[in-house]
Amino acid sequence: MIDTKRWKIAESGKSKEETIAEAAQLLKAGHTVAFPTETVYGLGADATNAEAVAKIFQAKGRPQDNPLIAHVASKDQLLKLVDSLPDYVENLIDAFSPGPITYVLPSNGICAENVTAGLPTVGVRIPSHPVALALLKVCDVPIAAPSANLSGKPSPTTADHVWEDLNGRIAGIVDGGPTGVGVESTIIDCTQETPSILRPGGISKEEIEEIVGKVLVDPALDNGDTKEKPKAPGMKYTHYAPEVPLWLVEGDNARLQKVYQELVDEGKRVGVLANRNTLEKLNVTDQISLGESLEEVAANLYDSLRRFKQGEIDIILCETYPEIGIGQAIMNRLRKAASRYVEK
Ligand code: TXA
Ligand code: MG
Repeated sequence: MIDTKRWKIAESGKSKEETIAEAAQLLKAGHTVAFPTETVYGLGADATNAEAVAKIFQAKGRPQDNPLIAHVASKDQLLKLVDSLPDYVENLIDAFSPGPITYVLPSNGICAENVTAGLPTVGVRIPSHPVALALLKVCDVPIAAPSANLSGKPSPTTADHVWEDLNGRIAGIVDGGPTGVGVESTIIDCTQETPSILRPGGISKEEIEEIVGKVLVDPALDNGDTKEKPKAPGMKYTHYAPEVPLWLVEGDNARLQKVYQELVDEGKRVGVLANRNTLEKLNVTDQISLGESLEEVAANLYDSLRRFKQGEIDIILCETYPEIGIGQAIMNRLRKAASRYVEK
């Protein structure tokens, strides 16, 4: 057990600068510290220090063959980690970074080998969260950071989620309040002439197309049952699984109500996850509203998945969402979190 330090930005007696300096000092000394980004909380370690990076894998129980994203504060720092860039990458960086997008690029070996899991490429991202940016600036080294959850669980969007999963396993948590976007960054493979989306996320395919024209989508993403091997190794693992089994229900409100009623008649305690509009039209007891717009659904998704507890609820039913804009990331995560897909 490690004594996990917790700082609350602004509310602790210390100034934001003092808190960030302390967290940076721990990171530079080879320890792990969780911090907020605009997508989800990350669990950071010095990406140039293999021993420090190994602590991330240990704390999360993460498979060794799953590479980590290196986080940097600026385009200059990003360029220091990579070999060569296709021209379109500069356009993407200028359009979307800092922001929720990760570029997979040829690695020049500055990041430790366990960051890239031995791949010739490295995933790099410039987060836009002010706390993340300030921390990265003070550290002045790339910080490897996967989502700060136990492997397999929903990603953390609050410091409490991180605490729930990793208290006693990491050196510290910087609490900067709830994250904004709520789903992880878009991962885009930029090693080929045409870029390819390996994981949908905070920046949509449509937005990327506006900058670069044609964008491919990793065929392994389209649906769960292809034989394709995903190019982002992490996409093959069970992910985001809530404590309680989640069923994803296709179709309209009447259909959701029907599936709910059948389960209740069997004696099951059923929790329903849907947007406010849908819930107003349903007759159900246990419910959590995901909000209204797709942006709100993304922001509330992981917290809501964590709020249904084993022992209180037997099955979570969730509606499906249109796969436009951030809806692509929402449905990608819901499919991975669900144990069953109830078709129309
Ligand atoms: O928004 C995010 O991206 C968050 C915050 C903390 O920045 N991070 C995050 O990291 O989601 P993680 O480790 O949970 O997911 C990283 C994904 C994994 O699926 C991994 O396989 C993939 O990125 N990845 C990392 N480096 C890669 C590479 N060189 N080639 C292909 N995929 C890579
Ligand atoms: Mg993750």
